[in-house]
Amino acid sequence: MDWYTLLKFIHVTSFALWLGTVFASIFLLRTLEPVLTGSEKEIARYPEFLKTYIKLETSVADKGFKTTVISGLLLALFFHGWTLWVFVKIGLIILQVVLTMSYIIKAIQPLSYPCSPGDYANWYKLFSISLTMFALVLLVTFFLL
Ligand code: HEM
Repeated sequence: MDWYTLLKFIHVTSFALWLGTVFASIFLLRTLEPVLTGSEKEIARYPEFLKTYIKLETSVADKGFKTTVISGLLLALFFHGWTLWVFVKIGLIILQVVLTMSYIIKAIQPLSYPCSPGDYANWYKLFSISLTMFALVLLVTFFLL
């Protein structure tokens, strides 16, 4: 058994799972936009539907995130070593969590539906933060680590 390959497999697969939930959410938000910004009638149960979806998404993303971080720390501990760029990666992950959480509290939680397209765009800004941070971590991983 090659533990290095196995750990790297878990690290990259859980990251893919986490990233997958981000894209699924962007597609869903885009689909629901006309209803939740009031440009289509029949808002009905859509806000509740979005809440249920986000709950499911968060539980999968949370597991993907934790497994990525734990397997990354194990890779550093047993195989790669604690290099400067590993610490940069850890710093970027902490920054991603802080930025995402504070933006959710400031701009997503206060939303109620129907809202204006401008307010709805806060959802897209939230996912732009996530995708930018993923891109930075991947740039560090492939070019500097
Ligand atoms: C605390 C968080 C993390 C730590 C400590 C960490 C650490 C590591 C280490 C030590 C490696 C192995 C490098 C080698 O082959 O020697 C690795 C590989 C990798 N990491 Fe992370 N990582 C973390 C988070 C992430 C995140 C969030 C992503 C995605 C955005 C990511 C994507 C990757 C990828 C794609 C590889 C494989 C690179 C390759 O095989 O060339 N890592 N990581």
